[in-house]
Amino acid sequence: MEERIISPEEVEEDLFEKSLRPQFFREYIGQEKVKKELTIYIQAAKQREEPLDHTLLYGPPGLGKTTMAMVIANEMGVNIRTTSGPVIEKPGDLVALLNELEPGDVLFIDEIHRLPRIVEEMLYSAMEDFYIDIMVGQGTTAHPVHFPLPPFTLVGATTRAGMLSAPLRDRFGIISHMEYYAESELQEIIIRSADIFETRIVEEGSIEIARRSRGTPRIANRLLKRVRDFAQVEGNGVINQLTADQALSLLRVDHAGLDYIDQKLIKTMIELYSGGPVGLNTLAVNIGEEQETVEDMYEPYLIQKGFLKRTPRGRVATALAYQHFNYPYQGE
Ligand code: ADE
Repeated sequence: MEERIISPEEVEEDLFEKSLRPQFFREYIGQEKVKKELTIYIQAAKQREEPLDHTLLYGPPGLGKTTMAMVIANEMGVNIRTTSGPVIEKPGDLVALLNELEPGDVLFIDEIHRLPRIVEEMLYSAMEDFYIDIMVGQGTTAHPVHFPLPPFTLVGATTRAGMLSAPLRDRFGIISHMEYYAESELQEIIIRSADIFETRIVEEGSIEIARRSRGTPRIANRLLKRVRDFAQVEGNGVINQLTADQALSLLRVDHAGLDYIDQKLIKTMIELYSGGPVGLNTLAVNIGEEQETVEDMYEPYLIQKGFLKRTPRGRVATALAYQHFNYPYQGE
């Protein structure tokens, strides 16, 4: 995949972003519904001196699912171990992780829909009754050994709840949907981050970056860093609307937050397929991306902005998309 400044996927540079991560709900901007619900469940669990119920966080990448898991652990006053679905290749990997948990701890599994099936099946008894059966020995001497676990909370994250198997999904007591952030929330996050960076930013500067961050804090913080570089080198170090606009134009992020891949996607639909309907697979091939990548990373924002529609016969570019890219619209 080409590297995109506005890709919501985590890259190495974002690790620096960890210092930007809120530690508690009171610092966490946005996701009001999720925070409100979890605050109640956490308080109740603490009063009962029990671990929090297993929690599934789902929603597009970059919205702070990992951060939310860390905040949950902090609010519960427990440790967190983090891993991800593709990293746990075999049952032994899961056993090693579970073995290190202390009572009440949080185990965070990102991309939980990508767990291998046999690992996923081990999780069922671990989640439900806090034990696992490990097969010991080989051939005729093979037998299961019952291995009790401390009570713990599994926090899983996935881009789409529908990608999880029903038995796994059913074992989560709490299922929370993370949503794209409002511009005003992104603006608050940008101002908070600029403050942590000790960078001066005026209101219009934060609005300009927020507007072009596709509802995603990870992108907002990444754009902020680039705009800050630009303001430092080309301006007087203060981020205002002009420096933000110039820096973002240089990065080819347009006024709606679309980058050249989004632009290519929509333009392909309009120029080659008369705006659609066009199949997801055809689109993916045209822009040289995996079908799943298009579906999880590009489409949700384009749909949310009203540039693209999913129909039973395929994807369709809307009148708004034609207008945004200055094509005459001939649809209904
Ligand atoms: N940094 C990244 N995401 C954030 C959020 N939701 N609240 C505060 N700071 C953040």
